[in-house]
Amino acid sequence: MNIILLGPPGAGKGTQASRLESEHGMVQLSTGDMLRAAVKAGTPIGVQAKAVMDAGELVSDEIVSGLIGERLDELGGETSVIFDGYPRTAAQADSLDQILADRGRKLDHVIELVVEEEALVDRITGRFSCAKCGAGYHDRYKLPKVENVCDVCGSSEFKRRPDDNEETVRTRMAEYRAKTAPILPIYEARGIVSKVDGMADIDHVNDAIEAILGSDAS
Ligand code: AP5
Ligand code: MG
Repeated sequence: MNIILLGPPGAGKGTQASRLESEHGMVQLSTGDMLRAAVKAGTPIGVQAKAVMDAGELVSDEIVSGLIGERLDELGGETSVIFDGYPRTAAQADSLDQILADRGRKLDHVIELVVEEEALVDRITGRFSCAKCGAGYHDRYKLPKVENVCDVCGSSEFKRRPDDNEETVRTRMAEYRAKTAPILPIYEARGIVSKVDGMADIDHVNDAIEAILGSDAS
């Protein structure tokens, strides 16, 4: 199965993708995570992407589509994948069609997380993650069960993303409205879009996604 989680910054794409990974063994392909890894490793892509990401703008279509193609090639053809933060432009949507067709895959579901923009600034500015294993948390909505100890790996080191400040978030949202939201009709015309209330709590959003995937996600 191949699914896209679509929604603006802070909609909960990463949170829900991790749930699907741990519950169904699907693999999350987050272009944001791939780019942050490239920045950290100081690769040529990372060097090129850093300033663009820090400004909240979009990295080039060629770079992100190249990353997705490479990751899919590393996975077996039978692996179910969740695209998180990709595609984000009409050109990326076209590339994804080609990338999937070349590998004998097809898109099964596009799940749109429908959210209220104002609530997202609060979600994003409160977000942090485990510096060791990447597990995601929030200052108010998802604290570690034991203060300052990661639920998953026990580490006490946490980090925040450099682009998680209000000014950059506003640019990221504007980019979403201008370039990403307009790709929805492409998938609506194919009858594969389902809308989920992304303002519900994390468990309820997960339940709604599970109901859409149904027995396909066993
Ligand atoms: P990316 O990493 O994809 O960031 P984003 O799209 O801005 O989305 P976020 O990761 O901020 O939000 P999310 O929806 O994953 O929310 P999360 O689950 O963490 O991209 C970063 C940058 O990389 C881009 O700006 C661009 O420069 C570049 N880039 C990446 N992909 C690209 C592409 N394809 N093309 C070009 N450039 C690209 O949740 C947020 C917080 O809210 C968390 O703290 C979480 O605990 C909490 N939360 C989640 N769900 C709920 C809920 N239901 N209720 C309450 N709190 C919740
Ligand atoms: Mg994310």
